[in-house]
Amino acid sequence: MPRLDQSIQMLARGYAWLPDLRRAAGRDTVRTRLMVRPTLGLVGAGGARFLYDERNVRRSGALPEPVVSTLFGHGAVHTLDGEPHRVRKAMFVDLLMGEGIGDLVDRVTTAWDEAAQRWAQQPQVVLMDAAAEVLTRGVCDWAAVPVSEDELPALARDLTTLVDGFATGAPRHWRARRARQRREAWLAGIVEEVRSGRRSVPAGSVLDVVAGHRDSDGELLEPRVAAVEVLNVIRPTVAVCWFVGFTAHALHHWPAIRERLRTGEPAFATAVAHEVRRFYPFAPFIGGRSPRAVEWEGETVPAGAMVLLDLFGQNHDPELFPEPYAFRPERFLDGEGAGAAVRRIGPWELVPQGAGDPRTGHRCPGEDITVALLSALAVRLARLTYTLPPQDLEISLSRIPARPASGVVLTAVRPG
Ligand code: HEM
Repeated sequence: MPRLDQSIQMLARGYAWLPDLRRAAGRDTVRTRLMVRPTLGLVGAGGARFLYDERNVRRSGALPEPVVSTLFGHGAVHTLDGEPHRVRKAMFVDLLMGEGIGDLVDRVTTAWDEAAQRWAQQPQVVLMDAAAEVLTRGVCDWAAVPVSEDELPALARDLTTLVDGFATGAPRHWRARRARQRREAWLAGIVEEVRSGRRSVPAGSVLDVVAGHRDSDGELLEPRVAAVEVLNVIRPTVAVCWFVGFTAHALHHWPAIRERLRTGEPAFATAVAHEVRRFYPFAPFIGGRSPRAVEWEGETVPAGAMVLLDLFGQNHDPELFPEPYAFRPERFLDGEGAGAAVRRIGPWELVPQGAGDPRTGHRCPGEDITVALLSALAVRLARLTYTLPPQDLEISLSRIPARPASGVVLTAVRPG
């Protein structure tokens, strides 16, 4: 096992860190050391199956404290295993993978259409910030989280800050910790109001379901943990603004895509959403710790080792995605032209939001929502008229999470 810790290299190299280690080792599985722990870095469908098997990898106690204290929250579903995970996850699956998605998309697209009228009155719009506000408005209304128009920009900023600060020692990390403290305290108070009957919320809404949820031990969630889980719905929904920013980047570099997107052809819009999620760097890798000594492809690591799956690397694996650095939504379509359909994607193949079965494993339960929102907003973005003034649109792979540096500044915006 290598003796030198790679934590600093990981933070410095970002998304290129595991791919570089693999290239240097000349193989898919790499052994290294992270946060002083022996670490196994995996990629590919086989590696993903290995990682999602709880006999090999557990999440509890495995995620680094700086990540839990910013991105996920203490006590979050991400940190559970076994029966406690199954019961908590079922709540998310019911809330996020059912019929309610259409209502969420309607609320977000209505908020976008209203905001686009206002953008036309402004000298410039920072698209990622503006999209974050649109998404915050839509998801908070859908989830029954009360937020006034005045409070909206600050809430949108806090929710994006939680995402922006999880993988760095820079000031944005400390901002993220403070934002989490603030928002957990606020939402825990609201959960208590709902439970005591001082606040009424629509039956079946996110706030109603989380406030009333009973864990595998039959107990209600601590108010603070309930707040964590409400945030685990609204925070990643608002994070779709990153993909909106990446979509604008793609439309700029591959203008032909704009023309076909504008038609609103649903299969093509979905294919664009998949290609944006595949092509652009967002979640770098996922991982956990081995409960026992485990072996994969001839490499053995001791109990307690970290095991990571390189999501970004897998999404650029030429075996799975030929010419992976070409942005080609058509790779997700069967057939040509208006008659094309979205092709079936295997559970271990496209992994921007994890792999496997979201109902039983840790795969993101918000993937349907992400694709539905992103395809609807991508069509709207393609129909918007705007100018991109001179700005830094570069996406650095060494910054986690990556983003177009400028946030995508638009001028002369005219609704489509
Ligand atoms: C888990 C990515 C959107 C809710 C995850 C995981 C990833 C991910 C990589 C971890 C998978 C694993 O550990 O195996 C993303 C990305 C998104 C997104 C890139 C785009 C913005 C959403 C949305 C929601 C959501 C919209 C909810 C509305 C969750 C939850 C989990 C999760 C609750 C924890 C699942 C578990 O541990 O069982 N997501 N996600 N995500 N995501 Fe997402």
